[in-house]
Amino acid sequence: MSHTPSETPPETQADSSQRPKREERMAGSESAAIVVAEKIHKTFRSSEIEVHALRGVDLTIEAGEMVAIMGPSGCGKTTLLNSLSGLDSFDSGQVTIEGVSLADMSDRTLTDYRARRMGFVFQSFNLLPVISAVENVEMPLLVSGVRPTQARQRALKGLADVGLADWASHRPMQLAGGQIQRVAIARALVNNPALVWADEPTGNLDVATSNEVLGLMRQLNREQGQTLVIVTHDPQVGELCDRIVQMKDGQIINYSDQ
Ligand SMILES: Nc1ncnc2c1ncn2[C@@H]1O[C@H](COP(=O)(O)OP(=O)(O)OP(=O)(O)O)[C@@H](O)[C@H]1O
Ligand SMILES: [Mg+2]
Repeated sequence: MSHTPSETPPETQADSSQRPKREERMAGSESAAIVVAEKIHKTFRSSEIEVHALRGVDLTIEAGEMVAIMGPSGCGKTTLLNSLSGLDSFDSGQVTIEGVSLADMSDRTLTDYRARRMGFVFQSFNLLPVISAVENVEMPLLVSGVRPTQARQRALKGLADVGLADWASHRPMQLAGGQIQRVAIARALVNNPALVWADEPTGNLDVATSNEVLGLMRQLNREQGQTLVIVTHDPQVGELCDRIVQMKDGQIINYSDQ
């Protein structure tokens, strides 16, 4: 096994000066909403307390945008991400993705849709520790019925794209935090999804590794045009995105364009 000292090409380093302005991104293209959320409410109820986690959230995300969702702990960021992506239900309001309301999708349709069109990256990586990096990355492909030899090829290419070609046979437990998160990103992107949801993708990483992972997401967004929605506490992450959506107490208080 040989590998280069640094698997990350220099252009993947985070650099907000390279961020295209919204007008540049939108120039020459009709702005097309990929996600539209209207008046989303969600309350968690237990026998003792009620938490009104989302209190009337309206949000439109355009195709190809890289958006940060920020705000204090407990303000509803994860709840919003889970509601928008159909991972969790909400009480009222409507979410439309690529023109189809989540409410009109059966569980089966939604699961299929998620497998084909969405990728997920979480703070805790969510990789299976006992199988290799390439087996983790190919899993979404196998689940959506891609033939094993083709799945393996695409997974290897995905790992190469995130600078981990030489680490395919390593298990996550044999990799460093930044490498593990890059495997998770490769897995989220292997299906070439239109939409990638990330919840604190750099939350467990040191600053340098976090910059590296973010730079990679920015690069992939630019090269492949995926829409990325990233929940983060990290102002540096927000700075690198096209737009920061600021939440407070279950509501969006600012939709700022940078
Ligand atoms: N499954 C649940 N049951 C009960 N309450 C919940 C549940 N999930 C979230 N909550 C509550 O809903 C509110 C919003 O939680 P959420 O996890 O969306 O916040 P967050 O902004 O993602 O916070 P953090 O930055 O700490 O991850 C919080 O008050 C939380 O305690
Ligand atoms: Mg959260």
